Amino acid sequence: MSPDISETFIQGMPKAELHIHIEGSLEPELMFELAGRNGVALRYASVEEVRRAYDFSDLQSFLDLYYEGMRVLLHEQDFYDLTRAYLQRISAQNVRHTEIFFDPQAHTDRGVPFETVVAGIRRALVDAEQQLGISSKLIMCFLRHLSAERAMETLRTSLPYREWIVGVGLDSSEVGHPPEDFKAVFDEAREHGLLTVAHAGEEGPPEYIWQALDDLKVSRIDHGVRCVEDPKLVERLREEQIPLTVCPLSNVKLRVFDSIQDHNLKRMLDLGLCVTANSDDPAYFGGYVDENFHAAWEGLHLSRDAVYRLAKNSFWASFLGAERKQRLLNELDDYFASHS
Ligand code: HPA
Ligand code: ZN
Repeated sequence: MSPDISETFIQGMPKAELHIHIEGSLEPELMFELAGRNGVALRYASVEEVRRAYDFSDLQSFLDLYYEGMRVLLHEQDFYDLTRAYLQRISAQNVRHTEIFFDPQAHTDRGVPFETVVAGIRRALVDAEQQLGISSKLIMCFLRHLSAERAMETLRTSLPYREWIVGVGLDSSEVGHPPEDFKAVFDEAREHGLLTVAHAGEEGPPEYIWQALDDLKVSRIDHGVRCVEDPKLVERLREEQIPLTVCPLSNVKLRVFDSIQDHNLKRMLDLGLCVTANSDDPAYFGGYVDENFHAAWEGLHLSRDAVYRLAKNSFWASFLGAERKQRLLNELDDYFASHS
């Protein structure tokens, strides 16, 4: 742990978040509030009981609770309140830009219209830009445990809202659901000018990262920590500086690594990879982006330069236009210069 950095330094540092599932920011307090408001029965008696249940053995054990928790989200205002709460949290952490995933199929399959979901999230993003100065992009994820045909239907349903969505992603249960299965959907998404990303190499093998790059033509890999098992893949990711949106606390909670000390984030930085630090599902994994920076800094003894690179990569790898990207990179450099 570098002594020339502190918790308050990390908190005040301008940064971007590039890997956050908005449904994974549903804190138990809001879950209870929405359950009451919407008359949805929960199988927990208290907020504390919900938190106690967040003891996961792998990705699937988390996903089961994640899909259960989001049953309280029914109305446009619920999606607004969810997104608003996340944005207020990250505003206090000086997150200047965020790229948010949402899982429309997890809602439309429960009878909640696509428009209800996207309109509530969008309204909160517009308000946050005006009121909190946080810029944002929205990325629509396909649930890979469902079929490619269902993903294609979802893509077509989203087209009236095309202007609100910057790209598409791929999430949910990874192993057994390779990226290549979704090639046609991603081809069509790119024809509409959507950018592409995909979760790969979280629990799945390096081969899934190759497929995300070659079949889905992704701009970034979400997680990607298993890339280190394949030297040729590391070389490709390094050469092309393909960003990896790594989520340290998530990886520990879902037992991808036994502890934060065992995480390979520092190793990947040392290999010259374009690594970023993100929260994934902050309400479930014990922290927002700051807590992830803090855990990585403390647990892996990151240098001041390593922390700088993580923050710089977060802006560089974002889908922002050139002008705001440069303004935020300058803000970061000014921050480091004035805290030396
Ligand atoms: N992995 C895959 N799917 C997800 C995750 C994750 O960490 N969080 C929410 N959906
Ligand atoms: Zn994720």
